[in-house]
Amino acid sequence: MGRAQKVVLAYSGGVDTSVCIPYLQHEWGVEEVITLAADLGQGDELEPIRQKALAAGAAQSLIADGTQSFITDYAFPALQANALYEDRYPLSTALARPLIAKLLVEAAAVHGADAVAHGCTGKGNDQVRFDVAIAALNPKLKVLAPAREWGMSREETIAYGERYGVTSPVKKSSPYSIDRNLLGRSIEAGSLEDPWVEPPEEIYALTQALDQTPDQPEYITLDFELGLPTQLNGQTLDPVTLVEQLNSIVGKHGIGRIDMVENRLVGIKSREIYEAPALLVLIQAHRDLESLTLTADVTQYKRGIEQTYSQLVYNGLWYSPLKAALDAFIQQTQTRVTGTIRIKLYKGSATVVGRRSPHSLYTPELATYGAEDAFDHKAAEGFIYVWGLPTRVWSEGER
Ligand code: ARG
Repeated sequence: MGRAQKVVLAYSGGVDTSVCIPYLQHEWGVEEVITLAADLGQGDELEPIRQKALAAGAAQSLIADGTQSFITDYAFPALQANALYEDRYPLSTALARPLIAKLLVEAAAVHGADAVAHGCTGKGNDQVRFDVAIAALNPKLKVLAPAREWGMSREETIAYGERYGVTSPVKKSSPYSIDRNLLGRSIEAGSLEDPWVEPPEEIYALTQALDQTPDQPEYITLDFELGLPTQLNGQTLDPVTLVEQLNSIVGKHGIGRIDMVENRLVGIKSREIYEAPALLVLIQAHRDLESLTLTADVTQYKRGIEQTYSQLVYNGLWYSPLKAALDAFIQQTQTRVTGTIRIKLYKGSATVVGRRSPHSLYTPELATYGAEDAFDHKAAEGFIYVWGLPTRVWSEGER
């Protein structure tokens, strides 16, 4: 009797998840391994991946289309939260994990599996995100993580797989570890492990090198309704198409690269390179529209919520009570975040150059220095007296 009888394994087609298929059966006594590859717009051909799982001994090989849900249910709510981990990383990899966990849990129910499995190692954030999300969605389900326990080196892993029909990649595999989906790419390892080393141009795929970008600026508009992007350049697009088109327009101008040393939940600092052209520009635009349509106190209070939200998502607590409570706050703030943002794209930077909204709180008669000025200047004096009173009393007490 093994650790589980029937297991649904999160499958990417990579070495680790492929080796999990025979490993679960031969080392851990699992009777049946069903693989599940989630399509999150990573651009892989999925049929060869499906076949590869069968060749490695999977009883069934499932493909789940998660693209629509990924953008609508995960990316866009995070956008409404202007979510940037440590003020920089838009969580493009992290956001995919709770969705994959949900797809695994659903497949386990459909196929009567008593466990789910993933190929994460013990050093990353993703193991935490999977394990915690699965526990939140079905606390009775076992989670198996063979790669966290098997203790094999890369070479040993490949050799183990070859014994059971896991074909290792023909081309010399890249020194980088790359995670890819509709929102972008995360690249680490190889020469990037030295934080002093400039990332070689070859690692990028969604963003142009600056010497290749157009010499003319390009202007785009983004329309939002209730804090959600609805139109690009005046054209209504479904969420997936909008993100795809925006990625290509923005990436062409070399916008959307991040090079950072980040703090993982497991205590390790890691150097990661990200490309997330569309998401970064969407956050910039969304935040700008909020500055036009939210009151000062909500805007400023929301910053703290956004930071907490980003940490929760990074740290694997997507399905948690605090996250749900923050979601309610964020949704409540979005009722007037409707309008248009105009952005100039040029040589690696996106600059908001215009904004308008039917709910704009910007009041020209109050802001102007011209003759139409409607602000009561005399009222300022009494306001300042009261505002400064505690400071005045404090200073007087010093003598
Ligand atoms: N550090 C990022 C995160 O924890 C990305 C992790 C995956 N990166 C990778 N290169 N495989 O969300």
